[in-house]
Amino acid sequence: MASLSASSLRHLLGDWHDDGPALRALADRIRLLLLDGRIPSGTRLPAERELAAALSVSRTTVAAAYARLRDQEHLHSVRGSGSVLRLPAGEQPAEAPHRSPATVDLTRAALPAAPEVQAAVEAAVADLRAHLPGDGYELLGVADLRRAVADRYTARGLPTTAEEVLVTLGAQHAVGLVCRAVLTPGDRVLVESPGYPHALDAARAAGGRPVAVPVTAAAGPGSGGWDEEALQEAFSRTRPALAYLMPGFHNPTGSVMPADQRRRVVDLARRHGTRLVVDETTNDLAFDGEVPAPFPADVVHVGSAAKSLWGGLRIGWVRADAATVRHLAAHRAPWELGTPVFEQLVVARCLPRLDEILVGRRRELRSRRDALVTGLAAQLPEWEVPHVDGGLALWVRLPTPASSALAVAARRHGVLLTAGPRFGLDGAFERHLRLPFNADAATVRDTVPLLARAWREVGTSVPAPRPFEVVV
Ligand SMILES: Cc1ncc(COP(=O)(O)O)c(C=O)c1O
Repeated sequence: MASLSASSLRHLLGDWHDDGPALRALADRIRLLLLDGRIPSGTRLPAERELAAALSVSRTTVAAAYARLRDQEHLHSVRGSGSVLRLPAGEQPAEAPHRSPATVDLTRAALPAAPEVQAAVEAAVADLRAHLPGDGYELLGVADLRRAVADRYTARGLPTTAEEVLVTLGAQHAVGLVCRAVLTPGDRVLVESPGYPHALDAARAAGGRPVAVPVTAAAGPGSGGWDEEALQEAFSRTRPALAYLMPGFHNPTGSVMPADQRRRVVDLARRHGTRLVVDETTNDLAFDGEVPAPFPADVVHVGSAAKSLWGGLRIGWVRADAATVRHLAAHRAPWELGTPVFEQLVVARCLPRLDEILVGRRRELRSRRDALVTGLAAQLPEWEVPHVDGGLALWVRLPTPASSALAVAARRHGVLLTAGPRFGLDGAFERHLRLPFNADAATVRDTVPLLARAWREVGTSVPAPRPFEVVV
């Protein structure tokens, strides 16, 4: 059973105080951490006395917060194991697949399937016939799809052969595979902050020690992005074994790394012996169709059909030199033995037409972005909404550090949100909220007033200043 130390829980809790009673604020924040997946169900909480000392509150406060969680059936006393957090039956974590139809889900930056996917599915049924006499185990991927992926890189300016492509079970699988194949426990891994939480999870699961480089959202065209000094410093000070970046519509900020900075990052990675991995999952989602060019051939590129076509296909890939592709494939076997053939055939049907498909996708995203930005400007003008030219989400800055409290309040109004700290390393980003523009205009019209109502419940309450702590 996993246990959480008092200091780890303190980091996760961040600024948990609000205007109400401390016991309620503490219980609510722990519950949110459980619901949004930052604390896995089945985790043992620290003893009351230890947590009280770590948070500088009385033991009575912690005991009362734990009692409240027990009443809500989120906390259970297990003989010999202390207090264990569990999701009550029927309650789903934010990332779980089944939702009540009454809720609006703003936790996922993803669209429904592109309309062209249906026809590709039907065509792929006929294509499947040629594969049925084989055994169906495709550790590297189906040749047609590997070739189609390679052709897209070639067309974008990076000559690529099918041998330089490995088909995976989505981009997340690709990132996890690269981390497992490249990292030795204890290695430094350069990551972005904020960043994509599951990439961070993958680096940590492979034993990597994250080194964070700040990325900011753009206030207007050409602003925001990767802190150049922090990048230089992170490479030279820690010589990371692996650097993971999302240079094209970074999740969650939506920033795009400019061409000159890309060149400097490649140079830094080469000089410090770092394996540079670029995750291009959202790269194609530029509203104006100006898709950033690939990196040089020695950089590991990760791609996905999830955002351009449909997440339900679960198809992603790695583009790397042929030796790395074989090395990665060899690391699959302990966990899985390849990607389903049928879905690969569907994507192989779509890729040659992808530019055409993306026209509709980008139009849809732009109009959803516009609806959300307009709604927020009208009803929540105090929120700072960044400028984005593509991608799937807005990294909104709140006037007070109340992102987790807002996520709790919004749930009461039927809106699921992922609070800012989910995208940080240690409870940071309480002043931020990732809002995907995955909802259509009608849904946005209904949802923004609910967000405004939830914000009114929490938004004006600035957390009480912490008592000055003297260390002697
Ligand atoms: C940057 C990034 N990488 C990977 C993923 C996961 O992609 P997939 O669904 O292909 O596993 C996402 C999904 O949101 C993402 O934003």
